[in-house]
Amino acid sequence: MATSMAPVLVAALLCCLGLSLPLNEKSSKSAKFPKDFVWAAATSAFQVEGGQIGTGRGPSIWDRFLVLHSNKDNSSGEVACDTYHKYPSDSALMKDLGISNYRFSISWPRLFPNGRVNKVNPEGVKYYHDLIDSLLKNGIKPVVTLYHWDLPLSLGDRGGWLNDAMVDWFGDYARFCFQEYGAKVKQWITINEPHTQSVYGYCSQVASHAPGGFQDNCEWSMYLAGHNFLLAHARAASIYKREFQATQKGLVGITINANWYEPDTSRDAAAANLAFEFMFGWFANAIFHPKGDYPAVMKRRMEVLRKKEGRVTARLPKLTAEQIKELKNSADFLGLNYYVSLIASANMSRSEPLESPSMKSTWGRDVNVFMFSRPEWQIGDSWIRYHPEGLRQILNFVKKNYNNIPVYITENGVMGAPGEDMNDKSRIFYVKGHIDAVHKAITEDSCNVKGYFFWSLLDNFEWHAGYTERFGMYHVSILTFTV
Ligand SMILES: *[C@@H]1O[C@H](CO)[C@@H](O)[C@H](O)[C@H]1NC(C)=O
Ligand SMILES: *[C@@H]1O[C@H](CO)[C@@H](O)[C@H](O)[C@H]1NC(C)=O
Repeated sequence: MATSMAPVLVAALLCCLGLSLPLNEKSSKSAKFPKDFVWAAATSAFQVEGGQIGTGRGPSIWDRFLVLHSNKDNSSGEVACDTYHKYPSDSALMKDLGISNYRFSISWPRLFPNGRVNKVNPEGVKYYHDLIDSLLKNGIKPVVTLYHWDLPLSLGDRGGWLNDAMVDWFGDYARFCFQEYGAKVKQWITINEPHTQSVYGYCSQVASHAPGGFQDNCEWSMYLAGHNFLLAHARAASIYKREFQATQKGLVGITINANWYEPDTSRDAAAANLAFEFMFGWFANAIFHPKGDYPAVMKRRMEVLRKKEGRVTARLPKLTAEQIKELKNSADFLGLNYYVSLIASANMSRSEPLESPSMKSTWGRDVNVFMFSRPEWQIGDSWIRYHPEGLRQILNFVKKNYNNIPVYITENGVMGAPGEDMNDKSRIFYVKGHIDAVHKAITEDSCNVKGYFFWSLLDNFEWHAGYTERFGMYHVSILTFTV
């Protein structure tokens, strides 16, 4: 397994890391970013680590999912980028690249094979110390996600995120991580993309994300999973703030993914806003909006559906006054993952092709907004869309509605186009466009953006797409292991 650079893309990013990037070919002006702006890259445990066998790690819901539902290339995460063994050379690559921060995730089942903190795997605990030490030695600051989708299978078997006990279990696991690594880790992300998890993990007709298999009654259980994600985030953040922040002096936040929904016509502004609040506000509003709670438009829509469906209670659970209070200000920053913009229309009989899977999901039916793509935003047949202005719009929404909270773009990037491989011109175009949008958001709109984490450092295991989508700044010659 050899790792080599995608030279052109790296050159483009290095250019930004030097804080001076010719963003517009027609202009000779260079874009200046704030001095303390963080240039970084991201990965997650299951997608890069490998080292799954004979290392004391327990199975996760993704291990089982891949046995039950094969992915695009019938691959597994058994070896992936072999970061479990190759972390020293990964750190050297990061140093070479000149990035200052690295976002990775801790594999919960590697630390706790059964999920509960009474049985720890010492080899796993040591691995993250070694990884963090190796980063620090190379001048790279670790940014750690506690949960990036690889739930211990034994907790998955107890209902996973549908079980209210997850809040306690996650809190215990988080406390262990803060205690063990908090002297060296100064930025924590509790949970990655709760929307993706709730909608595609717990309520997808086509099994695309673990755990899958919860389709029955998922029109309400999807919101229960989302509810438990929020409460688990609040629990972990409270533990950090109460027990560790004063001494460890780090930050805690959450990573939420958002599509931007552009209204088709001026009559579609409410539809676009509803779609955005249903996706992003579902998780962000309770944490960042001064009023807290679920977004008002989302609650109203769920109340309409309650009446229509003849239910006694709405499918969206209620947050208690105490929970609303705990969630408010439970994050020092927002982590934002952005890949997609869509057009939103209130006209459900539009003739454009339906945006799939968004609109075909139960979530899409609840939102009841017609979502489609502009042909010029399409990138091949990929699910990613090129519309950097959408990112700028989201940053402005956050500024306006969430008190201009500090934002780290914790993921943005695109897979290499077929045939381009390491001469990846279309990726350079994509990344430059988005960095340009971030620059305008900072300098022209005064948005409080603190950093940009490129997805991803390495080509890696892209879940249901297996190794077929190459997002890496570094090319990895991956051996595919069939499950
Ligand atoms: C994956 O496995 C399925 C079922 O065994 C098979 O039909 C399919 O051709 C395989 N796909 C690849 C890319 O190997
Ligand atoms: C809705 O879209 C369809 C198909 O594009 C069109 O024929 C119809 O006139 C639209 N309805 C409204 C109210 O705009």
